[in-house]
Amino acid sequence: MVNLTKFVKKVHMNKSIEKLLNDQIKYEANASMHYMAMASWADSNGYNGIAEFFYNQSEEERVHMLKLVKFVNERSGKVAIPALEKPKADFESLQELFEDFLKSEMFVTEQINHVIFECLDKKDYNVHNFMQWYVTEQLEEEAVARTLLDKLNIIGDDKSGHYLFDRDINTIATAVDPTA
Ligand code: FEO
Repeated sequence: MVNLTKFVKKVHMNKSIEKLLNDQIKYEANASMHYMAMASWADSNGYNGIAEFFYNQSEEERVHMLKLVKFVNERSGKVAIPALEKPKADFESLQELFEDFLKSEMFVTEQINHVIFECLDKKDYNVHNFMQWYVTEQLEEEAVARTLLDKLNIIGDDKSGHYLFDRDINTIATAVDPTA
């Protein structure tokens, strides 16, 4: 019987793709901490629903980061766990909070598109396939961020509107359909 083990060599990933995936690990980690800071700001300002929303977002970004760490290791790449940016801790308004949220998601989408571009350029269809999950995820997260900011822009400075927004945010976010 042929011993196949000697033929099974781990395929090392392209260095430029490895670097981009490590950058992506950092962006996801930064997003996680930014959303934690947003959650904490909301919590300390009496917005319990918004706090819960951002605590959950923070956790989701951590999962995005972890998924990348595990994938790079699985593909015999080298992971460099990054130092993190100090997140912004204060916000002038709910509008500012949600504008920052949308900007952050748009930035992450742009970086993911960059990874996808490189995968096609370097013909790494395995990483390309893996990254499709992130493409779908970003579509959803950007749609949620836009919907929430649109609602807030309608509400403006109305305090009772803010109260209702805080009460309903998690229901509104769950109901967003990015394909609609
Ligand atoms: Fe994982 Fe929303 O960036």
